Order: sequence, then C-alpha cells, then structure tokens
Amino acid sequence: MKARFAFLLALLPALPAVAGDLDTRIGEKLFRRMWVSAPTVTHANDGLGPLYDARSCAACHPAARQGRPPDPDTPDDRGVGYALKLSGDPVYGRQIQTNAVLGFAIEGKPALSYRDETVRFPDGDTATLRRPVVTVTDLNYGPLAEATAISARIAPSVRGMGLLERIPEADILAGADPEDRDGDGIAGRPNWVAPEGTRQLGRFGWKAVHPTLHRQNSEAFSLDIGMSTPAYPEPWGDCTPAQTECRNAPHGDSPQYEGLEIPSTVIGLIDGYLRTLPPDGGLEAPRDTAGSALFAATGCASCHRPSFTTGEDAAHPALSRRTIFPYSDLLLHDLGEDLADGVAMGEARGRDWRTTPLWGMKRLAESDGKLALLHDGRARSVTEAILWHGGEADKARGAFMALPRNDREKLVRFVLGL
Ligand code: HEC
Ligand code: HEC
Repeated sequence: MKARFAFLLALLPALPAVAGDLDTRIGEKLFRRMWVSAPTVTHANDGLGPLYDARSCAACHPAARQGRPPDPDTPDDRGVGYALKLSGDPVYGRQIQTNAVLGFAIEGKPALSYRDETVRFPDGDTATLRRPVVTVTDLNYGPLAEATAISARIAPSVRGMGLLERIPEADILAGADPEDRDGDGIAGRPNWVAPEGTRQLGRFGWKAVHPTLHRQNSEAFSLDIGMSTPAYPEPWGDCTPAQTECRNAPHGDSPQYEGLEIPSTVIGLIDGYLRTLPPDGGLEAPRDTAGSALFAATGCASCHRPSFTTGEDAAHPALSRRTIFPYSDLLLHDLGEDLADGVAMGEARGRDWRTTPLWGMKRLAESDGKLALLHDGRARSVTEAILWHGGEADKARGAFMALPRNDREKLVRFVLGL
C-alpha cells in the first residue's frame, strides 16, 4: 500500500538546502488539504470525522485569516469558520459538529438571528448594536442537556502566532493584576492550563486556553475535523461515549502513522507553517502618534498593550528578539454580561475573554468593507465593538462615548490603521 504522505516525507531529506522553505510550502498545502473519510472496508484513508465541522483548516481560516458569522438575511448561509462550542454536553461533547460522513447524522445546525438595540452617546449621536440570539436546530442526537451553554465563535486570523508564542512568559505576567491591586478597575489574569500535566500559560484561542500553537492545532484536528493526532489520539474526535456508533465507526488510524490519522510529521509541518506566517500588521510602531496617545488616554491600552519583544530563538531567527505591536496583553479580562457566554475554559470563566490582538485591523478593513468583530463576529464596526465592551472595560467604553465626535473618529481611524 502506498503511504499517504510518502511523497511529502520523501522530498524532505533529499533537498536539505531548501528544506525550511519547502517545509513551509508543504505545511501550507496541508493547511488547505481537504481530508476524506476512512472507507468502510480495506485500508485506511485519512479518517475525517465521522462527525466534523469542516474538511480543512483553510475552510474556516481562509488564507489563514478570520471567518465570519452566517448572514441571517441569506437563507442557508453558514458563515465561515463559525463554530458552536458547548460548556460540555453529555451527548454532544464540547462542540456541535455540523457535518458528518456518509451514513451519519450531523449533530445540528446553528440558527442565528439578531435583535437591534440603539445606544445613545452623550452628544446625542446614536449607534445600532445587534445582539445575537443563537440556537441549534436539527439536533439529531436528542435535546441538549439543560445545563449546556452554547458559545458561538468565529475563527480568528491565524497569522503572527509564532511571534505571540515567543513572547516571554514573564513579560505577559508582568501585566497581570488579578486582584486589581492598583485599583484602576482592570485586572488581567493569566489562564493557567496543564494539558500535559505541567502548568503552562494559555495564549491561543478566544479564552487563551491553549499554551502552544501545537496544542491549538491538534485540538482543531480533533474538534473541527474529527482526526487523531499525538496530542488528541481519539480517532472519533468529539464523539462522546453516548455516541456509540460514531465511536465504533471505521477510522483512519494506521500503524504507518504512529497508530494515528495525523502523525507527528504532518501536524509538525502545519505548526511550522503557521509559526512562520507573519501577521498582517504590527511589525512596526504605528506612525499616527496622536491616535496612539488618544488610544492610551481612553484606557484602551490598559488591555490592548501596544508592544512586546519576543525572546531569543536561535532556531527561528525571524521570530527572535523582535519588537512587535500586537495590541494585546494576552491576558483574560471580564468584559461583562453582554459578551458573556457562560462557558469556562481552563481558568477562564463565562465572562472572560483574552484581549484580542488588533494587529491586522488595517488589512481586515481593506479586504472587505464588512467587518465581523468580537468572538462571535457580532460587531460590524470598531465603534460597535467598543460599545459591547463592559465589565473591566466599562470605564474605557464610557470614556470613548464621552469623547467629542471627531476624537471618536480619530480613535477609530487609529484602530483601523493597525
Ligand atoms: C470549523 C471551523 C474551523 C476549522 C476547520 C479549524 N479552525 Fe482553527 N479556529 C476556529 C475557531 C472557531 C477558533 C477559535 C476557537 C476558540 O478559541 O473558541 C479557532 C482558533 C484557531 C487558532 C488560534 C488563533 C488565536 O488567535 O489564538 C489557531 C492557531 C487555529 N485555529 C488553527 C487551526 C488549524 C491548524 C486548523 C486545521 C487543523 C484549524 N484551525 C481548523 C475554527 C476552525
Ligand atoms: C478591560 C480590557 C479591555 C479594554 C480596556 C479594552 N478592550 Fe478591546 N477587547 C478586550 C477583549 C477581552 C476583547 C475580546 C472580546 C470578545 O471578543 O468578546 C476586545 C476586543 C476588541 C475589539 C475587537 C477585535 C476583533 O478583532 O474582534 C476591538 C476593535 C477593541 N477591543 C478595541 C478596543 C478599544 C478601541 C478600546 C478603548 C476604547 C478597548 N478595546 C478597550 C479587552 C479590552
């Protein structure tokens, strides 16, 4: 039987001079690869699902950038990279899988609608916010447990992750103030997680629950695509013991690939590709110094920390000792009830979110005029995103609302230039 990845593996040792570059190109191909299901008889083939959300990484992260929620005005639109996380359901597990291989029923489909709400600024201006109402239809494995909370999330951009991974832990922790000892109303807590037994600082995902790119990418194979990796060796992905048929289905684990569907070589190539993929912005300090000062004076920089310097990494000179401008402290903040999803992850609670890096906003705004900001893509503009901020960010939102209109515009323009 011809090995599925033999062609990839065979190329590498033969071309040592370009191995780095070649690895990246192969990693990109694997990021875009459409995985297929294991056939019911004979030899293994990939091992997609049985339940899954999408067949490739790129289906949810197009060009390694962010997704968007479904458009409620377009019938059957499913959005891009729009996933329903669960607080942990005894039947449905940690995520609703909206697709299934032949012979299996999907778990369900997201149904999204919005309720418009008007916000009035002190100067009389108004803005319209749309509050999402998310439910699941076509639940084919019975009702969700009463206690199960649903959290809709869009796929974030996956560019610049290698730089974020290399920020020294101590520099992130220096910004933490869990008890708010300085009394500025802003706490900032690290999300301590221990997926491999030892305590690590969470950095990736909307709630910073993954300490490394490798863990995040491996979980994506399990939850989103339904394939096993060294870190998540179950070939049935997110199927629970209650979903016996799914657990007993043919899978693609293969002795040639460490008894897995995705062996360490393949996940390693994807990790490597994303690690070196530069961010869309944030490699230089912004030139708009007046905007920058306004951003700080309004209180935004207390969480959206402008810069960090990465640590030494001899193996990756491009990532080593670089001053970057991600505009995030990579810490968790309580952003209030309006953004809360009631889903805890690691030490992150229902109201906590990791400060979203703002680098890449310029590219995002230029690429299509329709912005989809915040964890569920509900905000159509920077102004809307700010108006949803509550909890620890209450004061900053109030300060923004109290600014004269042209200063508000200046601040928004600054953010859209990052
Ligand atoms: C079904 C859609 C979907 C697929 C398929 C998918 N992702 Fe994601 N991805 C998401 C969502 C949603 C999040 C945010 C998860 C969270 O934190 O709740 C995410 C988060 C991430 C992050 C973290 C980004 C950050 O800002 O911290 C990385 C890295 C990532 N995905 C890589 C991958 C890779 C690699 C694959 C393929 C193996 C993949 N994803 C497949 C939807 C998807
Ligand atoms: C207390 C910390 C805190 C403060 C203060 C704060 N933010 Fe945020 N910001 C966050 C967190 C956390 C998120 C992610 C929330 C979510 O997705 O639900 C976020 C998200 C955003 C987003 C959406 C980014 C995206 O790509 O989805 C924008 C834009 C933003 N903030 C701008 C600002 C501006 C401008 C200010 C000042 C007026 C500000 N923030 C103040 C913590 C803060």
